[in-house]
Amino acid sequence: MATVLIVYDSETGNTEKMAQVVAKGAQQIDGIDVIVKRATDTTNDDLLNVEGIIAGSPVYYGLMSANLKAVFDASVKIHGKLDGKIGGAFASAGGYATGAETTILSILEAMLVHGMIVQGNARGPMEHYGAAAKGAPDEKEQKSCHTLGKRVARLVTRLHGK
Ligand SMILES: Cc1cc2nc3c(=O)[nH]c(=O)nc-3n(C[C@H](O)[C@H](O)[C@H](O)COP(=O)(O)O)c2cc1C
Repeated sequence: MATVLIVYDSETGNTEKMAQVVAKGAQQIDGIDVIVKRATDTTNDDLLNVEGIIAGSPVYYGLMSANLKAVFDASVKIHGKLDGKIGGAFASAGGYATGAETTILSILEAMLVHGMIVQGNARGPMEHYGAAAKGAPDEKEQKSCHTLGKRVARLVTRLHGK
């Protein structure tokens, strides 16, 4: 089995709801174990022990929240060891065009600095970079979250399947 970690920060529950749907999407893929953890409970060992990492954050001033950033900042101690793992990102914002994409990209930037592999999505109607929601995810936004989880997990099995 290969494992996908879904790590998220959420103050008022919106990003947490997204994380649960991303997890359901990842669970659709045979050979994948899924772990869901809050950013504040996530350690470097948690990052090291998985093949895929999907990170989610509320949009805070157009960027990932401090709690999620702290996970990446702490990961400097294992810099170089996440190379080749698969990444993905999602974000909940207060509005539309108010920072969800920049937040997703801030997460993906940190993953790329780690040497992780990120797949875009050419076909999704609203998920080229990752999954975004305004507040709690509605039905369409949940579909995006599900797709993100499934696509990342599928790539994990292709590149890391045992
Ligand atoms: C400190 C702070 C900064 C925020 N900055 C933004 C922002 O730049 N753009 C935006 O759309 N929403 C912003 N919001 C709203 C949150 O992103 C939004 O309410 C989100 O759904 C919260 O997710 P959560 O329920 O997972 O905590 C901000 C909220 C807080 C508390």
